Amino acid sequence: MRKFIIDTDTASDDAAALMIAAFSPDIEILGVTAVAGNVGVKQAADNALMTLQTCGCDAPVYIGASRPLFRERKETISVHGKDGMGDRGIIHPDKKPENKRAVEFILDTVAANPDEIELVVLGPATNIALAIMTDREIMSRVKHIWTMGTPGLGSGNATPVAEFNVFIDAEAYAVMLDLGVPTTIIGFDMCEGEIGLDEAELLALSHGNEAGKFLEQATKVILQFNLDTRGAHMVDLPDAVAIAAAVWPDYVTSTVKCHCHCCTADNETYGQVIFYQKGRTYESMPLIDSYNAEVVTSVSERMFTKRFMSMLLK
Ligand code: BDR
Ligand code: CA
Repeated sequence: MRKFIIDTDTASDDAAALMIAAFSPDIEILGVTAVAGNVGVKQAADNALMTLQTCGCDAPVYIGASRPLFRERKETISVHGKDGMGDRGIIHPDKKPENKRAVEFILDTVAANPDEIELVVLGPATNIALAIMTDREIMSRVKHIWTMGTPGLGSGNATPVAEFNVFIDAEAYAVMLDLGVPTTIIGFDMCEGEIGLDEAELLALSHGNEAGKFLEQATKVILQFNLDTRGAHMVDLPDAVAIAAAVWPDYVTSTVKCHCHCCTADNETYGQVIFYQKGRTYESMPLIDSYNAEVVTSVSERMFTKRFMSMLLK
């Protein structure tokens, strides 16, 4: 069994990601750690608990950072609703978050399972950075980090150059990139286009299993946002698209090794990640000889939709 810790600022697409892991028979979710991002940290923890409950998964949920490392939480448009889950009154988990704090849980679990834990980071990287700053030696024994963050090789959604998760806590993302464990980045460019849920798929989910029905409700606000801003009857699921790269390696069709530099200066580049791609020559730069991440550059949209829908319809 692969051992996952999933770090999430649980909104509707994080919920979809949790469902993929929870329904995958070869994955054990040792714990879910909540972080402030799309919503406050307590709401994120409740959203995660409720999502796991709809999947019949009793993985523990831990509360983590309530604000970024060094900055106030920024006000951003709430594309997933005030509760992050469509504002349908569907969040009433039976369980409560654990008493242990997220950072302590991450460190204890990595220490007890050296070179075995895969960290899936679906929100701002604050909890991960705090764990690294607390005990770098322990965190260097993480087996792999999978992160939904950065625009990839496309453009940003928080600003033209920054993606939401990195924009909320760029300092934390920089600390995470610097850890030196194998890291895969799934950027926002992989999550746009046909890979979301269309009208027919959303309708099918409304007749699906408990998790499917829950997700259809949880995506109501983002659906309205897409209708209003783009006239598109569709729901994007960046975190689900990202976790799928961890869970289904055959769905990733190309990657490029990069040296990734996260910009933290207090100006319009805040949260931008610059990718120096292996195989390219940059005339104005010294030779890059260290690559701190593998960036996913294409995935099979068809495979994603087929597998994801079959999990939620059975
Ligand atoms: C990321 O931002 C959040 O809105 C989503 O949950 C995802 O993690 C996409 O930029
Ligand atoms: Ca997220």
